[in-house]
Amino acid sequence: MSRTLYGAYVVLWIFSLVECKVPEVRVTCIFSEDCILPCSFTPNDGDVNIKWYQQDVLILSLQPAGQSLIDDKVRLFSDNVSKGNASLLVKQVDTRSKGRYKCVVNTVTRTYVIATVEAPISTIFINTDPSGLIRCSTKEVYPAPVVQWSTKPSLPPAVLQPITRMTSGGKGLFTVESVLKQQNNSLDHIYVCNIISKYGTQTWTASLKLKEMSSSEGQDLIIPCRAPKDLLSFSLVWTFTTVNKTTDVLEYDSRTHKSSRSWDHADLEEENALKGDVSLNLQKPVGSEHSGIYTCALSGAKTRHLIRTRVVFTSSRQGKDFLKYNLWMLGIVAGLIVLLAITLVIKKYRAKLKRNQENAEEDAEMQRMNPDKTLEEPQAGSTLMTEPSGSHS
Ligand SMILES: *[C@@H]1O[C@H](CO)[C@@H](O)[C@H](O)[C@H]1NC(C)=O
Ligand SMILES: *[C@@H]1O[C@H](CO)[C@@H](O)[C@H](O)[C@H]1NC(C)=O
Ligand SMILES: *[C@@H]1O[C@H](CO)[C@@H](O)[C@H](O)[C@H]1NC(C)=O
Ligand SMILES: *[C@@H]1O[C@H](CO)[C@@H](O)[C@H](O)[C@H]1NC(C)=O
Repeated sequence: MSRTLYGAYVVLWIFSLVECKVPEVRVTCIFSEDCILPCSFTPNDGDVNIKWYQQDVLILSLQPAGQSLIDDKVRLFSDNVSKGNASLLVKQVDTRSKGRYKCVVNTVTRTYVIATVEAPISTIFINTDPSGLIRCSTKEVYPAPVVQWSTKPSLPPAVLQPITRMTSGGKGLFTVESVLKQQNNSLDHIYVCNIISKYGTQTWTASLKLKEMSSSEGQDLIIPCRAPKDLLSFSLVWTFTTVNKTTDVLEYDSRTHKSSRSWDHADLEEENALKGDVSLNLQKPVGSEHSGIYTCALSGAKTRHLIRTRVVFTSSRQGKDFLKYNLWMLGIVAGLIVLLAITLVIKKYRAKLKRNQENAEEDAEMQRMNPDKTLEEPQAGSTLMTEPSGSHS
């Protein structure tokens, strides 16, 4: 009797040991996709009884009489069960699919499965608005990711102070928006936003660079943009923004080398584009139409880089008008001077003429009064003139 009892204890002990050594498997399931939770056993010829639990709640049970489904989101691979495969298929994973699962075959717990659910980051946006706020965002991510900001050259993190908001939608997925204030000397910095998935499996990067340029109207202009060296394949969109409106200028794909233009007078240099230089050539810009913000947006795998250049065209017509106006003024002034000179000359001539006339009349009068005097006087003058020279010698 005591021997059989002893034997029973040994069996129990072995059982508890087996119970302790139940493997624990971690599985990452992708949101809205199907997911397989593994469980296997050594098949024998006897009946098979399979039970699956999620957080100790029975979600599926396979009895010898036939599969009796409890939760219609899960099922077994019926064809494979006889071969010792009791894996569970979870269809169309959602955020409630996560948790600890238990697979029990013929009353023996075979496996624990820790299922995590992830809706991977699939997009990243970065932008800025006239109020000087930089926004970095993503949507439909699970679980909530981490947002990190930095600048190049780097500023102390305490200076940046971003505000990050996460909102959870109907399906339990997160929309994330992080807002950073532009620093005073923002033209010297590149702002970099990293969105990192909670389990560290993914890092998406977005960057923003702000620039300013000025040029004269009518002169061809190159607005620089260059892909980072590590961005080997990318798609590019150049856009133009004035007060309220953004329009496409051109698009380019580095894999196909194909570009499509929306503006006739804007172009890329094909040769340079192959080397990652996707600067925009603007031909004969018109100041009033083409002053605004030109955005070069480069998108690659898990990255997005924006270079926003504010371009101001100074109107050359204004310059011409200015010159014309000056010429007019110069002409008028010159004319006035000439007029003044002429009137002066005429006045002088007239005065001279008058004086001559008066002199002539006076002479005539004098001659009438004293006819000899005019003749004597020069003689008297000459005697006076000879007198000093005579005294000298
Ligand atoms: C399970 O069944 C599928 C077909 O339904 C088969 O391709 C696969 O090899 C089977 N796996 C096992 C372990 O039997
Ligand atoms: C069980 O079957 C599924 C579906 O065919 C398969 O993906 C899985 O690898 C199988 N598990 C084992 C342990 O063979
Ligand atoms: C920006 O300028 C304001 C005042 O205009 C100053 O208080 C602030 O410290 C400056 N910030 C940086 C990062 O230089
Ligand atoms: C731009 O939008 C504002 C309102 O947001 C509007 O008042 C203004 O008229 C718009 N300007 C142009 C040029 O469309």
